[in-house]
Amino acid sequence: MSSVSQCLILGQLLTFRADPFTATAPESAVHERRGAVLIEGGLIRDVGPADRLRADHPRVAVRDMGDALLLPGFVDAHVHFPQTAMIASWGKRLIDWLNTYTFPEEMRLSDPAYAALIAGRFFDLTLAHGTTTVCSFATSDPVSVEAFFGEARARGVRAVAGKTCMDRNAPDGLRDSAQSAYDDSKALLEKWHGVDRLEYAITPRFTPTSSRAQLHALGALWSEHPECLMQTHLSEQVEEIAWVHDLHPQARDYLDTYEAADLLGARGLYGHSIHLEEREIARLAEVGAAVVHCPTSNQFIGSGLFRAAALRARGVSVGLASDIGGGSSFSMLRTMAAAYEIGQLGGTALHPAQLLWLATEGSARAMHMADRIGTVAPGSEADIVALDLASTPAIAQRAATADDIWEAVFPTIMMGDDRAIAQVWVGGAPVTC
Ligand code: GUN
Ligand code: ZN
Repeated sequence: MSSVSQCLILGQLLTFRADPFTATAPESAVHERRGAVLIEGGLIRDVGPADRLRADHPRVAVRDMGDALLLPGFVDAHVHFPQTAMIASWGKRLIDWLNTYTFPEEMRLSDPAYAALIAGRFFDLTLAHGTTTVCSFATSDPVSVEAFFGEARARGVRAVAGKTCMDRNAPDGLRDSAQSAYDDSKALLEKWHGVDRLEYAITPRFTPTSSRAQLHALGALWSEHPECLMQTHLSEQVEEIAWVHDLHPQARDYLDTYEAADLLGARGLYGHSIHLEEREIARLAEVGAAVVHCPTSNQFIGSGLFRAAALRARGVSVGLASDIGGGSSFSMLRTMAAAYEIGQLGGTALHPAQLLWLATEGSARAMHMADRIGTVAPGSEADIVALDLASTPAIAQRAATADDIWEAVFPTIMMGDDRAIAQVWVGGAPVTC
């Protein structure tokens, strides 16, 4: 999987020494105008000024990326790989969008050949956009999980996925049961969790599509496998929340429907989490759970304004995600731009340091993987992206007058896409896109 050969990558370097939501944002990062990263055996071994690393490692092959900015590969903390082919489907809000577009497409992935085709296409697209780790929902059919992990393993990427469990309010052909969700999830977990760079996430889709029995069965599985992540959706749209209240009139709030089934914990990832009540915020912070901001999706499906800075200030861990195919872009640059715009609508201008951190270390922390990915630091796995900060004429002319690295990178955050991805390395090996 990983290359044992050494390589010295040269370029501009931006590394974080603190969380930019708790430290003053610009001071949270160190910028090296001429930096270098030494990779060996799939890991980052040394990071610092190019002059020093060249002197310390004189015989190592050099890959000079010029003015490109070296960053950790992007980490997409909430995505639905089976929705790749139905991205940008018009005109519906969440529940109608699921019934009209999502469920019919997810059903198609029960064909192993189609599931393999979509998994391959998904990783082609995410890697071309500089995303080196995803946390994905599969479909309810184990076939789709097999396709995802098979493809991820062949490419050597660190990746997380789980069978999406739903035993009600979904069509025939996608519904499982409490028992089969438990059995299939357990079998997939035992087969794939910890294989190479792969991890299994226990995955109830969301409260409306899981009976109480199913939520409890998956809560029991999580208690038996606390090493796994658990991913689901929480408080995305107001109609959805009203439906959850109808289904669970006794629950204190939406989060309580998970909490009552032992589906609230530090390794829980709660996608969207837009319309949270006070108790929910306090509980998420208290248990150390993570919420995942899906800004292009929240705009596209019309879900609402996530309050990233306010939640971070309350001590809630926050990751960033594309949420394909509710999200409208594979690009974590475009996703950062949407996060910035949503911040503005809520009265907070997120600093470029905060946006870049969310798309890398923030997501990695939310996934409890920051010791391995999401940072360009000695000991981390060598998943790296080189960003061209002048990838289009419009971006180049704005970046040309930049006074510092933040002004230089912000046009790429706001206007960049896959054309800004000059090179991607996965486990130390360059990816050919
Ligand atoms: N809630 C439950 N399922 C989904 C999904 O597939 N996408 C989004 N955006 N929200 C969901
Ligand atoms: Zn989702």
